[in-house]
Amino acid sequence: MARYLVTGGCGFIGSHLIERLLAAGHEVRVLDDLSTGKRENLSEGVPVTVGNVADPAAVEAAMAGTDGCFHLAAVASVDRSREAWLETHHANLSGTVAVLDAARRANPRGPVPVVYASSAAVYGDNPNMPLTEDAATRPLSAYGADKLGCELHARVADGVHGVPTTGFRFFNVFGPRQDPKSPYSGVISIFAGRIARGEPITVNGDGEQVRDFVYVKDLVRYLTAAMDDAKPGAPVFNVCTGKPTTVNRLAEVLAELSGRPLDRRFGPARTGDIRVSIGDPSRLVAAFGMTCDTSLEDGLRDTLAWL
Ligand code: NAD
Ligand code: UD1
Repeated sequence: MARYLVTGGCGFIGSHLIERLLAAGHEVRVLDDLSTGKRENLSEGVPVTVGNVADPAAVEAAMAGTDGCFHLAAVASVDRSREAWLETHHANLSGTVAVLDAARRANPRGPVPVVYASSAAVYGDNPNMPLTEDAATRPLSAYGADKLGCELHARVADGVHGVPTTGFRFFNVFGPRQDPKSPYSGVISIFAGRIARGEPITVNGDGEQVRDFVYVKDLVRYLTAAMDDAKPGAPVFNVCTGKPTTVNRLAEVLAELSGRPLDRRFGPARTGDIRVSIGDPSRLVAAFGMTCDTSLEDGLRDTLAWL
């Protein structure tokens, strides 16, 4: 049994990770500012410190005496990073440096490992699909630039300070507990919520933009495996299926599965929206021996059932 800090643990991905950690018998504590996360996402008894991950004293206190940190706290919305550039930069990049710095001193036995969320947004407008981890990083958003910054600082943490780090470039993650009400949430939860309530959906642009959707319960298995076996060299891995889905197709499948008519409207394209994002999972599969194998349809059924 180990003791872990999960930053952003009250959020969508964090809450699934914590479910898995608790089921394995680990002790978990959370640092979260509850800006998008909710305590109700967690079972009772999980200690939550309400604080900002960019506040070094809060991070230091939350991490003291732990065996490792899963760092998920961030403003996850690309759109929000356009509207609130500096604010999201503090959370997304300074927050990561605060976590890596605290990991140096968290445990008297020595630096503790940090497993953190990067993003497919680091590839930006790189057109070479499917994207391997060696593809050029060309972020189009402040969010993507900050996630790339996290990876660079993770290399410093490993090489200069002896903090083992593993970064995961999540592609588009979906599943239960992704907030269906927030305009800053992921497209699947927004569409699923609106279709289920009989409301129209708005497609940004022509809807032919492509994403690689990953089911959350597949994803969290990699996070715990990386913590169990931290490797030197600050590795980063895509977490993806390699399967493309357009936003239009997604809307149609959701309407079909929920048995509702599709009321689809087209709005302006989002500024800085990535056109095509498909990952190559080869490195992930080779390193961890498992694939993201939940089909889009099965994952969507689970998501709709949760609403
Ligand atoms: P989420 O918004 O549900 O979770 C983020 C959590 O971090 C929330 O609980 C929020 O309250 C907390 N948080 C935000 N800013 C904070 C701050 N300054 N201090 C403390 N807590 C703060 O989003 P999510 O989808 O669960 O994202 C988790 C991580 O995965 C993020 O780092 C995100 O960038 C990354 N990611 C998500 C996706 C996706 O498709 N959902 C894809 C790539 C990367
Ligand atoms: C998402 C994640 C981001 C992650 C990235 C990795 C969220 C909120 N964002 O960004 O954290 O790093 O994947 O690939 O989880 N769309 C519509 N109508 C809507 C909402 C969205 O057409 O109502 C479109 C968007 O314009 C975009 C696509 O759907 O083309 C996906 O949007 P979104 O779910 O916000 O994800 P990303 O921007 O890809």
